[in-house]
Amino acid sequence: MTFFKTSAFALASAALLTACGGGGGETPAPAENTVENPVSSETAAPETPATPAAVDNSEGFAALPEPYKSADYNRGKRTFKLCQSCHTLADGGPNLVGPNLYGVFGRQIGAVEGFTYSKAVQDSDIVWTPEILAEWLESPRNFLPGNKMSFAGVRKPEDRTAVIAYIMAETGYSDE
Ligand code: HEC
Repeated sequence: MTFFKTSAFALASAALLTACGGGGGETPAPAENTVENPVSSETAAPETPATPAAVDNSEGFAALPEPYKSADYNRGKRTFKLCQSCHTLADGGPNLVGPNLYGVFGRQIGAVEGFTYSKAVQDSDIVWTPEILAEWLESPRNFLPGNKMSFAGVRKPEDRTAVIAYIMAETGYSDE
């Protein structure tokens, strides 16, 4: 068996190298090489939420106008996973590949300090509303040609509504 051959050889070399003839102690080389958990992204969120399935939407979304108010919180949170490699939501959160999104609603496009936007964004004068964000997310490329958000879009309307509600709830949206 090759395993024995190899490990005998390994043991022999080890003995030679250390010049320690003591013997007796078997140190079989680990035969498996399975990497179960490759470290991928630093920002990756835990996959399985510790909380049970029943999540009360009213907590996060109660203050929002319809249709965001009755959107599915878990769907929104799940859909935001598509964004989170590039965007943070927390107040004062860092810019990643894309700008931090805290306070985005009611704000002029391209206004986060310290983030270098594309010319397309700099030349645009959109003010973000939930409805305009829905259009952007349906197809960023079509909505504003030349922008540098490399993201195909969120295809399902219910995913868009839910992720927008989630962003509203997480970024201090106020309806004034
Ligand atoms: C691959 C990285 C990436 C992903 C994924 C991504 N974005 Fe972006 N996003 C960007 C970049 C880069 C910009 C800046 C675009 C520019 O300057 O042209 C941007 C811009 C934006 C803006 C405008 C911000 C401002 O300050 O005006 C919003 C809003 C936004 N993204 C929302 C989202 C949402 C919501 C998702 C997920 C559904 C998402 N993005 C997914 C990279 C990304």
